[in-house]
Amino acid sequence: MTFGTAAEVSAPALRLQGVGRRFGALQALHDVSMEVAAGERRAILGPNGAGKTTLFNVVAGDFLPTSGSVELFGTNVTSLTPYARTRLGVCRTYQTSQLFMGLTVAQSLFLAIRGVQKGRFDPRRPKADDPARIRSTEIAETVGLASVLQAPVGSLSHGQQRQLEVGMALAGNPRLLMLDEPAAGLSRSERVVLTELLLRLPRDITVILVEHDMDVALAVADRVTVMAEGTPIVEGNPSEIQANRTVQDIYLGHAVGVHHG
Ligand SMILES: Nc1ncnc2c1ncn2[C@@H]1O[C@H](COP(=O)(O)OP(=O)(O)O)[C@@H](O)[C@H]1O
Ligand SMILES: [Mg+2]
Repeated sequence: MTFGTAAEVSAPALRLQGVGRRFGALQALHDVSMEVAAGERRAILGPNGAGKTTLFNVVAGDFLPTSGSVELFGTNVTSLTPYARTRLGVCRTYQTSQLFMGLTVAQSLFLAIRGVQKGRFDPRRPKADDPARIRSTEIAETVGLASVLQAPVGSLSHGQQRQLEVGMALAGNPRLLMLDEPAAGLSRSERVVLTELLLRLPRDITVILVEHDMDVALAVADRVTVMAEGTPIVEGNPSEIQANRTVQDIYLGHAVGVHHG
């Protein structure tokens, strides 16, 4: 990893200015301006269809915005490819699973690490002292999967699969980690495990968490942005968000904790 200039180091992890994204006639995002400080844990809440995943896609570069600008760590990335943004330290998970059920946990992590280092698949069996193998063991510990390293992904519980997805995102050595509804579909006890895992992540990693589950979001976040109809409507710390009338009306009125697509 390379270190930026003084200006880049003090820059926010993410700065969006007037970001919009349109799909045909549908304005999925409009006039989104927000800053996430380096090292911050930010939760993004909002009803289904509010534009949360589209926001991630615009930040990661999977979709380009149709208006506005995206800056990562002081660099304007608005028209950069997803790969170029990965190299700046952006790693994300997806709302739907991207795992290969036939691989083991160790193989999945190893490939995620190698994929980042070499940009291609290397099928050879890793030696015991291979740095990527050592790193995959470390990540397995971070995400609570050290005891199931040799288990096939398909045999893991849903909660463990979600933990592995976080681990695979960590394999890219993120400076900015974006997690899209990591607690979706988890049981109460699985959510507790996931929350503890997120709280244990190194503080130098900036985390943006889209989460439907209020308990997970408010436990992990330093600040919360609530979105509705494609734009941020309220921002504050967790207790401000809980006390906010607008939030209670537009968000808490909906079925909180129930997973919507
Ligand atoms: N690739 C796409 N093509 C067309 N419409 C999309 C696409 N992705 C998202 N949308 C629409 O944009 C709006 C916001 O969706 P999304 O960002 O997935 O919301 P959230 O993640 O908050 O539930 C929705 O109306 C959705 O149908
Ligand atoms: Mg979504």
